[in-house]
Amino acid sequence: MMHPKIVVVGSSNTDLVVAVPKIPAPGQTILGGALQTVAGGKGANQAVAAARLGGDVCFIARVGDDAYGTAARASFEREGLDTHFVFTTPGVASGVALIAVDQITGENSIVVAPGANACLRAADIAAASAAFDEAKLIVLSLEIPDEAVFAAVEAGFSRGIPVLLNPAPARALPREILVKLAILTPNQSECALLGGSAALLAGGVKTLITTLGAGGAQLEQLGTSPQSFPAPSVIPVDTVAAGDCFTGALAVELARGEPLDRAIVFACAAAAVKVTRAGAQPGLPYRDEVTV
Ligand code: RIB
Repeated sequence: MMHPKIVVVGSSNTDLVVAVPKIPAPGQTILGGALQTVAGGKGANQAVAAARLGGDVCFIARVGDDAYGTAARASFEREGLDTHFVFTTPGVASGVALIAVDQITGENSIVVAPGANACLRAADIAAASAAFDEAKLIVLSLEIPDEAVFAAVEAGFSRGIPVLLNPAPARALPREILVKLAILTPNQSECALLGGSAALLAGGVKTLITTLGAGGAQLEQLGTSPQSFPAPSVIPVDTVAAGDCFTGALAVELARGEPLDRAIVFACAAAAVKVTRAGAQPGLPYRDEVTV
C-alpha cells in the first residue's frame, strides 16, 4: 500500500475527560465519573488518524516544556509521526482540553486552554519548509493562531499542494484564504457560524464537506447539486474527535489518489468506528478496522 506524505499543522492537547449523566447547564454543578487523561487536540488527532489509516505524516505543532508536552511528544513518536517540527515553547503550559462526555448519548462539551498551541508562528511554518516540499496534501485546523494557519495555506498554495482546512473551532476567515483551499470540512454548527454553505461557496470555497454526525456528510461544490453520504449506523459511546477522524481519513484517501466520493465514504466509515470508542486518540481506528 502507498503511504502518501501528509503535513498536518495544528494543536496538541491533553484531554481531561469526565463522563457525565448530562452535560451541565450554566451555573449547574454535577457529579461525573472518574477522570481520564487522554491524548487529544484537533491537529494531533487528525495527524494520528491519518497515520493509523496509512499516511506518512509530518506533524507541525508546539507543546510546552511540561509533563504533558513530554508525554505528547513520546506518543507522537509511538504513532510513527515525523516530529521534526514539533517545537517546544519553554515556560509555557502545553494545551489542555476539559471535556464532559454525556454517558447516554456520547455527545460532548469541550473547553480548551490553548497554552503552547497559541505560540505557533508563521516562522515555525517557514522553518518546516522541507516538510511542505514533499507533501501530497496539507491538513489544517483552527486551534492555532491565524498567522500559522495563513502561512501554512500559502506554503501549500504556492507549491500547488491541496490544502484541507477543518475550521474548528470556527472563526471567520478572509476570502484570500478561502479561495486558496482545496477543501473545507466544517461540522453543521461551524458551517452555520461561518455564514452557511451558500455564503461559503459564494466566498470562494471550492469543495465544502459538512459533517453531520450520525447523518454522515454532505458534499457541496458551486454549480452542482449537493450530494449526501450516510454514516454507518452505530451505538455512540464518545463523539470526541469523530470530526478529526473524518478529516484525517479523508486526507489519506485523497492523498492516495482516491476519488472524492470514495474518500468521503471511507471517512464516514472511519468516523463511525471512532464514535464507538472512548477517548480522542485512543479511539482512532487503524486501517484494517474500517470497513466500507
Ligand atoms: O476535536 C476533539 C478535540 O478538541 C479534543 O481532543 C480536544 O483536545 C479539543 O481540541
